[in-house]
Formats: sequence, C-alpha cells, structure tokens
Amino acid sequence: MLGEDQVKTMKVNFELNGKKVTADVTPYTTLTDMLREDLGIQSVKKGCEHGECGACTVLVNGLPMTSCIMLAPQVEGKYVTTLEGLEYKALMIDLRQAFIENGAIQCGFCTPGMLISSYALLRDNKHPSPEEVKLGIEGNICRCTGFTKIIEAVLDAAERIAVE
Ligand code: FES
Ligand code: FES
Repeated sequence: MLGEDQVKTMKVNFELNGKKVTADVTPYTTLTDMLREDLGIQSVKKGCEHGECGACTVLVNGLPMTSCIMLAPQVEGKYVTTLEGLEYKALMIDLRQAFIENGAIQCGFCTPGMLISSYALLRDNKHPSPEEVKLGIEGNICRCTGFTKIIEAVLDAAERIAVE
C-alpha cells in the first residue's frame, strides 16, 4: 500500500471567485482542504467535517454545498464561489450590515457559511417569509446566537434590498 506521501496527485481545473485556477491534489482531498490549504481561502471553516454544521458552505455552480463532504476533483470544470468572491456584491454588503446591526454574529465561526446560505436564499427569493429563511439556513448550525437574531438579520437584509 502507498504511504500518504506517495499517493499520486492530480490537477483540478475550475473557476474560483471568477478566476480560473488549477490545484494539485490527491484524489481524496476534500474541497474544504483544497480551498483552505492549497488556495488560501480562509473564510471556509472546518467544523464537524461531516456535512452537518454548514461552516464550510460554498457555492458550487451557484448552489450552497458543504465543501467538507465534496472531494476536490468533483469541482473540475465548475464554478466555486466563497465569501471572498462575494465581498463587493450589493446583496452581500446588505447582509453583512444586517448581521452586524441585528447582533447575528457572536463568535463568528458559523458566519461565513450562514452568509453564503443567506445570500443564495435572497438571490433567488427577494421576499422570504420567516419560514423560508429557516429553511434556507437549515443546513447551518450556530452554537451562539440561538438563530433568532440570524433570521431577523436575513429578513432585515431583504427589506434593505427592497428599498434599493
Ligand atoms: S465542516 Fe462541513 S458541514 Fe461541518
Ligand atoms: S456566532 Fe458562534 S457559532 Fe454562530
């Protein structure tokens, strides 16, 4: 059996935050590890690493996915977007501001994943009900805020968008 340092690497070509990139990874490198360790994307957090907490959420071809349970080679030819790639989008600016003003951030560990899921929700549904917000962030766990403030923040962001 090959030792870990003898496993052959392979190239993965994809678009990360609007730029074409190539990374050399093993066939079993997770998307989280490729983003964090090979490409320096620190907004993607490692929490449970079992697809349950949502801290590692990124957009793959526009859809929120938990990157810890995707293998890096699965994004070959795809579009991956992290918080870094959404920084200057009006919707993300409104969301960030609403999270801050509604006290939806405490330790901040869940925040990048929450923002990504909330962004995808409001991008596709500009006027969500509280129930729809709950569904939109159901894959993201926050251990600090009790969720209420996060739901309020997303609804507040939706109102901000409506008046722009
Ligand atoms: S770290 Fe990926 S879902 Fe928890
Ligand atoms: S703010 Fe700490 S886990 Fe959500």
